[in-house]
Amino acid sequence: MTRTIIVSNRLPTKVLRTDDGLAFKPSEGGLATGLGSIYKAEGNVWVGWPGMFVEDAAEQEFVTEQLRADSMAPVFLTESEIRDYYEGFSNETLWPTFHYFSQYAVYDAATWEAYVAVNEKFCQAVLAQSGPDDTIWVHDYQLLLLPQMLRKARPQATIGFFLHIPFPSYEMVRALPWRTQLLEGMLGADLIGFHTFSYMRHFLSSVSQLLGLPTVNGQIDTPTRSVQVDAFPMGIDYQRFADAAASEAAQQHEQVYREALHGARIVLSIDRLDYTKGIAERLRAFELLLQRFPEWRGQVSLIMVVVPSRDQVAQYQALKEEIDELVGRINAQYRTIAWSPIQYFYRSFPLEELAALYRMADVGLVTPIRDGMNLVAKEFIASKLDRRGVLILSERAGAARELSDALLINPSDTDQLVQTLHDALVMPEEEQTQRMAEMQALVRRYDVFAWTQLFMSQLTEAKARQRNLATVPL
Ligand code: G6P
Repeated sequence: MTRTIIVSNRLPTKVLRTDDGLAFKPSEGGLATGLGSIYKAEGNVWVGWPGMFVEDAAEQEFVTEQLRADSMAPVFLTESEIRDYYEGFSNETLWPTFHYFSQYAVYDAATWEAYVAVNEKFCQAVLAQSGPDDTIWVHDYQLLLLPQMLRKARPQATIGFFLHIPFPSYEMVRALPWRTQLLEGMLGADLIGFHTFSYMRHFLSSVSQLLGLPTVNGQIDTPTRSVQVDAFPMGIDYQRFADAAASEAAQQHEQVYREALHGARIVLSIDRLDYTKGIAERLRAFELLLQRFPEWRGQVSLIMVVVPSRDQVAQYQALKEEIDELVGRINAQYRTIAWSPIQYFYRSFPLEELAALYRMADVGLVTPIRDGMNLVAKEFIASKLDRRGVLILSERAGAARELSDALLINPSDTDQLVQTLHDALVMPEEEQTQRMAEMQALVRRYDVFAWTQLFMSQLTEAKARQRNLATVPL
């Protein structure tokens, strides 16, 4: 029987240390739902890090047993691996480079060594779980070397790779001292997927300029194999968000929130804490809105949810301080006893409370400086059961390629953002519902299940084509 192995840095379940011992909770993110139908099927497994440092052998065994029952296999990382491979090379070298923040990129041979070693560790874990003919789907920038490592060990395996963040232009990639190894690592896959055609084009250009390989119609010919490259814009579990928005619990939360906000109009912003998300820039734009359009003072509040993330990395700590300071300053200047300009939350919210926020928002404000896709934009759309509400979306989010009915903005153009915020707040209801209906049709149709199916079927095709090539007589 051939099986499918999913591999990502993080497992869909995270382990937490509580007063009552170890606890298991779902990790944030939509990948788990999308891939649920695959990894939970008979014999399949998801290989990844359980999100916490577990050193004790008995504890490791306990975690392994618990996760095995849910079709998962943990890769335990030591404290130094978490520091050098995860916080270091993945999040201080690759993350800033791929998001065009080269000024934040650190080039450190020691973290690179750790990245190679941990990719090798993942490789051993996958090999222990799989046979020679299995299908292996590797995810994201933390594991760029893994496809090639697997290919060496399992030449016949069907290997897919999907990158969840942008693939940047050649000019960014060429700055990386380890650019050749990273590209070659990805080329171990039979099919490489990106969110958009531009990311795919950037990748093909890097491969041709740095490795000198021919690339025609999304196909790369290496001396021994051909690799297929394509765009697969990721979707969300639409029904899950629509159902949550329709739930009794969400409606009750909404009522409580509305009463507390005394009828103010709501602009909603939800992100992981990250400098790529443009959170500080968004706060400055909101401040300017209150300055330039004084009629909105006392009338509109920004609800800003920031989900803690990567708090051991210096840039993230600095950003947290900047946000705290900006929120404090703006609120102190404009607030009244009855009204706060910004309602700021530094934590994650349960689904029903998020759904209540999505329901009540007049404007969804999604303005990243760079973002591979941005699923918050899609969740906002799926939650708008009455189709009222306006999405303001950065043209530098992958989602902008699909959501042309959003109000698209350039996140560096603060004047444009301020004006667009005002326009969104006064948009006639008919226009709101028309735009929302168009976007809902698209997001509903290309949901995360369609995304998974499309990738898997193209992976099978790419492999079949390769087998045929291999049997053509010379
Ligand atoms: C992005 C990445 C994911 C990552 C997520 C959360 O969406 O593409 O691979 O899991 O951020 O980041 P974290 O560092 O907490 O896993």
